[in-house]
Amino acid sequence: MTTAPSTAPGKWTITDIPDQNGRTAVVTGANSGLGIATVEALAAAGAHVVLAVRDPERGEAAAAGVPGSVEVRRLDLADLASVREFAAAWRGDLDLLVNNAGVMNTPESSTKDGFELQFGTNHLGHFALTNLLLPHITDRVVTVSSEAHKKPGTPHINFDNLNLTGEYTPRKAYSQSKLANLLFTLELQRRLAAAHSPVRALAAHPGWATTNLQRHDGSALNRIVMRAVAQDNKAGALPTLYAAVQDLPGASYVGPDGFGEVRGAPTLVGRSPAASDPATARRLWTVSEELTGVTFPQPTGA
Ligand SMILES: NC(=O)c1ccc[n+]([C@@H]2O[C@H](COP(=O)([O-])OP(=O)(O)OC[C@H]3O[C@@H](n4cnc5c(N)ncnc54)[C@H](OP(=O)(O)O)[C@@H]3O)[C@@H](O)[C@H]2O)c1
Repeated sequence: MTTAPSTAPGKWTITDIPDQNGRTAVVTGANSGLGIATVEALAAAGAHVVLAVRDPERGEAAAAGVPGSVEVRRLDLADLASVREFAAAWRGDLDLLVNNAGVMNTPESSTKDGFELQFGTNHLGHFALTNLLLPHITDRVVTVSSEAHKKPGTPHINFDNLNLTGEYTPRKAYSQSKLANLLFTLELQRRLAAAHSPVRALAAHPGWATTNLQRHDGSALNRIVMRAVAQDNKAGALPTLYAAVQDLPGASYVGPDGFGEVRGAPTLVGRSPAASDPATARRLWTVSEELTGVTFPQPTGA
């Protein structure tokens, strides 16, 4: 069930999530950080939530603390065989897919299929997962991006060298992957609309939230600043939840309403020009299809 954006005075909170009974959701990267907070909120509202995690043992440990209807399934987004296995096992309708998992600022390395790790995990893994699950999806796909998509120096997808070979920096690769998340949402929404599908594609970013994401960030100063200004994972998950349950237009981007979109209550926010360019979004889609071997299916709702 969805609701129109709240008109009541005050900020949107977890208590504004409408009854989710009868709905099924998949949350990737669900064992920690924003993922587990998203799971908790959806399950508390009555949804059946599948925690899609790369380590089922840690997934079970996280799920054990969640009251409500939850289950754990293995999904390694850095391995397309695992993505295919997860999608092939799916039966029945899936109301909501939350593409939340991510890695940030990792040392240069590759996925099982040879893609740069951050682009491969954050974008290509979710690209393949979404398209493979799309015939089951009935309501929406929410993909978690970041304001890092606007970082100076990386306002583009490096189509000539997606793996950034010879020019790799952890931040450049993260920014590229998060820009790809937004371009993916834009083109997915265009394709869904063209197919007259009722399914919507939306994006969200949490601002700054204290999670495990910063584990590869060696800068002590960054960590101190982070601790001082960041919100907790529950507050950081609110933009994702807002995108997941509010009646918003396709391709909407939700983030916190505070100064610099660092923290605050969820609201519609703007993308960078690079993240709004339909031609780049189409080009990225074509390249992603070629790299993953997964294509856009005709949605069942069409
Ligand atoms: N925290 C922030 O301030 C912030 C800001 C902007 C955007 N974001 C975005 O928010 C999302 C969630 O991050 P978070 O902050 O909650 O960080 P987190 O606590 O590190 O959670 C990331 C999740 O992704 C999972 N993951 C990583 N690689 C995976 C793979 N190959 N297959 C499946 N799952 C994988 C992790 O699993 P493991 O536990 O097994 O590693 C973990 O569950 C990310 O997309 C991130 O880019 C976060």
